[in-house]
Amino acid sequence: MSVSKEQITTALKQVIFFAKANNIVDLGMIHDIEINGNEVKIVVVFPKLDDPAVGIVSNSIDKTLKAEIANDLVITIKPISEKDLGIGPLSGVKNIIAIISGKGGVGKSTVAANLAVSLAKAGHDVGILDADIMGPSVPIMFGVEDGQPGVIEREGKPKMIPIENHGVKILSLGFFVKADQALMWRGSMINNAFNQLMTDAEWGNLDFLVIDMPPGTGDIQLTLAQSYKIKGAVLVTTPQKIAVADVRRAAMMYRQDKLEIPILGIVENMSYFIPDDMPEKKYYIFGKGSSDDLAKELKVPIIGQIPMVAKVRETGDNGKPISLSNDNVVSRAFADLAAKVIESVN
Ligand SMILES: Nc1ncnc2c1ncn2[C@@H]1O[C@H](COP(=O)(O)OP(=O)(O)OP(=O)(O)O)[C@@H](O)[C@H]1O
Ligand SMILES: [Mg+2]
Repeated sequence: MSVSKEQITTALKQVIFFAKANNIVDLGMIHDIEINGNEVKIVVVFPKLDDPAVGIVSNSIDKTLKAEIANDLVITIKPISEKDLGIGPLSGVKNIIAIISGKGGVGKSTVAANLAVSLAKAGHDVGILDADIMGPSVPIMFGVEDGQPGVIEREGKPKMIPIENHGVKILSLGFFVKADQALMWRGSMINNAFNQLMTDAEWGNLDFLVIDMPPGTGDIQLTLAQSYKIKGAVLVTTPQKIAVADVRRAAMMYRQDKLEIPILGIVENMSYFIPDDMPEKKYYIFGKGSSDDLAKELKVPIIGQIPMVAKVRETGDNGKPISLSNDNVVSRAFADLAAKVIESVN
């Protein structure tokens, strides 16, 4: 028998790519179909290849075509990545860096904002994506809380234009939803919104896209890990034993589920306290050593130690991250962190 491309395409519409909740044909994942007698070769494009979805979708293609068309089809599936093809909404983004932690309030957003500014100051093209829908703080830290991203049409599809400030392109769920509305959102809605910020945005060419993740290990963390190629995660902790325990749990979850996001290193925030009136003093008010133990245990380096200084909070609240200035110990600590991140992705 002879089989046509149309038959195959129609059948493939039954195969769903769950991460994007649509069928693989409409998602544009079928790159090529080659037919030779009863041999069918299909090239399928995935956001990333080291993803369990590749095996699941490939199996599903095989089963569906045999069931819908003919049992004796010899089907070969070649998965390729969007990056291989130089396509995909994030193909212009070289390195996606996720700022994660098991615990709330340890300074993820502060680290994300200052890292982004420091990377930009080092001459890189940088974006920051605030994925914390329950408590978006990036717009405040960049002084753009009233920002309303514009829309531009690309290949017939509307794309959000990130707001720019301090040399960084910024998108946040907070631009679109009020926090009290967000509380009523279900997991799937949050995931969809997150995916849109990632892929329906005009990020353009970026050296780094820094993602400020919500605390913990929920839906967005899984979506991020399964659907996107993350260059690495930066684990933020504070020196208290109790914070370290939460961060350890998060790190374990990322590893245990084989999510395969490499952890670039640990940033210990609020490492020590420097009083405004005695800048030469260092007080280790949260203790010392717990982050070292964690680093050893996880076999990852400590790539940053950020002191606790009143100015960090003030500048964050005022929309001018402390890293914009040059002459202080905190901006130097963030510049060092940026240098380590640059080094670790090269
Ligand atoms: N090194 C620091 N020195 C002084 N204040 C800091 C420092 N790091 C963070 N803060 C302050 O601590 C508070 C919490 O920080 P931040 O919002 O960055 O934490 P987070 O981990 O993102 O929190 P959440 O889990 O709610 O998203 C903020 O008010 C911030 O300004
Ligand atoms: Mg935060």
